[in-house]
Amino acid sequence: MSLLIVLDLLVAVAAAAGWIGAGAAAAAGRRRLAIGLFAGAIAASLGRVGTVLALAGSGWWFVQEKVLVALPLLGVAGVVAVLAGRGPARVVWLLTAGYAAAAGLLVTVLVGYPVGWGEALVTVALVGTAALLTARATGRSAPTAAVAVVIAAGLIGAGLVVLPADEGVEHRADAVPVSSLRGPDTPAPGGEVHRLTLTAQTATVELGSGRRVDAWTYNGQLPGPAITARQGDLIEVTLRNADIETGVTVHWHGYDVPSAEDGVPDLTQPAVPPGGEHQYRFRADQVGSYWYHTHSVSHVGVRRGLYGTLVVLPRDSAPVGLDLTVPVHTFDGVTVVGDQDQPAEHRVEPGTPVRLRLVNTDSAPRRFALAGTPYRLVAVDGQDLHRPGELAQVGLRLAAGGRYDLAFPMPQTPVLLQVGGATWLRLLPTGFAGAVPEPATGDWPELDLLHYGEPAPVDLGGAFDREFTLVLDRGFALVDGVPAFAQTVNGQAFPPAQQVREGELVRMTLVNRSLETHPWHLHGHRMLVLSRDGQAPAGSPLWLDTVDVRPGEVWRIAFRAENPGLWMNHCHNLPHADQGMMLHLVYDGVAH
Ligand code: C2O
Ligand code: CU
Repeated sequence: MSLLIVLDLLVAVAAAAGWIGAGAAAAAGRRRLAIGLFAGAIAASLGRVGTVLALAGSGWWFVQEKVLVALPLLGVAGVVAVLAGRGPARVVWLLTAGYAAAAGLLVTVLVGYPVGWGEALVTVALVGTAALLTARATGRSAPTAAVAVVIAAGLIGAGLVVLPADEGVEHRADAVPVSSLRGPDTPAPGGEVHRLTLTAQTATVELGSGRRVDAWTYNGQLPGPAITARQGDLIEVTLRNADIETGVTVHWHGYDVPSAEDGVPDLTQPAVPPGGEHQYRFRADQVGSYWYHTHSVSHVGVRRGLYGTLVVLPRDSAPVGLDLTVPVHTFDGVTVVGDQDQPAEHRVEPGTPVRLRLVNTDSAPRRFALAGTPYRLVAVDGQDLHRPGELAQVGLRLAAGGRYDLAFPMPQTPVLLQVGGATWLRLLPTGFAGAVPEPATGDWPELDLLHYGEPAPVDLGGAFDREFTLVLDRGFALVDGVPAFAQTVNGQAFPPAQQVREGELVRMTLVNRSLETHPWHLHGHRMLVLSRDGQAPAGSPLWLDTVDVRPGEVWRIAFRAENPGLWMNHCHNLPHADQGMMLHLVYDGVAH
């Protein structure tokens, strides 16, 4: 699919180059060259019709601007160029077809989906202007009517483009402030209170190999303190900021806390400035593997080290023999697993139940492989899978921000965890003294979560009350008032908020038109995967907080709006979010 997207761009370039080249050659009187380029241009133009038809199979979002603007423009100019007699008129029309092809390419690259009347008219005006100027240059006078049409199209189009869009979010007078949306202040019966202070501070941290990292930390350590609680406990965190100039917060990734505790600056709280302080409090009701991180200038803060893990164990379960949380991060291009930049080793009694909680705290997906034992992937993003089968010799691609829990009994032989093809964790049976093999896992096939585990009925409890579609792409847009080749959603950087009412069942379609992966993350809610490219999961139901939408993919998810508040809905490739790929999900009746 991403191949098709690239191919479409290539034929578009070839078509533009072919038409312009043919026009230039004809103008220069190089007849044979002109005929050759002309034939190439026609072939490439027909080729683009082919790639557009093929892309259309994935959905209208992939071709709308091509079908409505690029191909009609090129079609008209191309047909006239074919029909135009020899001589200067033909030169003008050949070149005009070239401008049309180039403009169509620009519309795809800069505007994308959805193209509106404004962009369409501006494109027509640009091609028209170029054609008229070309006609002048070849000594022909342009018809007044044509000039008038081009000017009118340009003016109307520009007007439509700059007209402010309707933000669509109503503010009710009786709205409750998000800061009032807090949870219980006591643990559930039998639970405990965990009190902890996180102090955000710059620190030079020495890793196992002696390498030093100039980091932004919670409590001077990388990662921040691991928080472990039991279901029903109350977690109370005091965040202090010692010296992080950009401000800090704590966001509980994947944990559906009450909105006031969600840690999003300028949405649920002000960022905590140096010298400042903020309290978080929530009940640990969800069991599983999570993490926390700053949400203030997060593309810098998280990368530099403002993150830690959050694990909530079931209330009354016996402790697992070996329960290891394995957060993976990249500092200055170097992989760091937990607090180590070199492989770690554990001695484990054979037969011991082992649970490995893999956490990807980077902005790009990571590939894991577990060698030396069959195992089960028992939970994804903190949610247990239904009847996960035994796995061996598969690669596990973990989305940015995502978590996988692996479980197995310790065998009599070594078990190795690889990250990106290198061993990072060695579990050695007690008493084992032999050599530890180093398996090559790079060509192990990748596990497809949509075909893992067994189906189980999920009762969503009714029909969808609301539909949202997010088309992810790059395009020309304003980022903080500055024109940029932004990361866009529906053609906009930082698009208007989505609005829901409490209790609604929402279906969201995520379409990736771009050539990059977008790990889509919704705060405060778990998303049930309905389909990927039209295929419903054939295995376990999948409840995710981060959906890894790869180039060309279309995912449908559902969530129940049952956590009132103001929420982020964004790409967890954090630089993408910073470049526009984020919006808000706003509950009716909740205000800042
Ligand atoms: Cu882990 Cu809004 O992010
Ligand atoms: Cu992204």
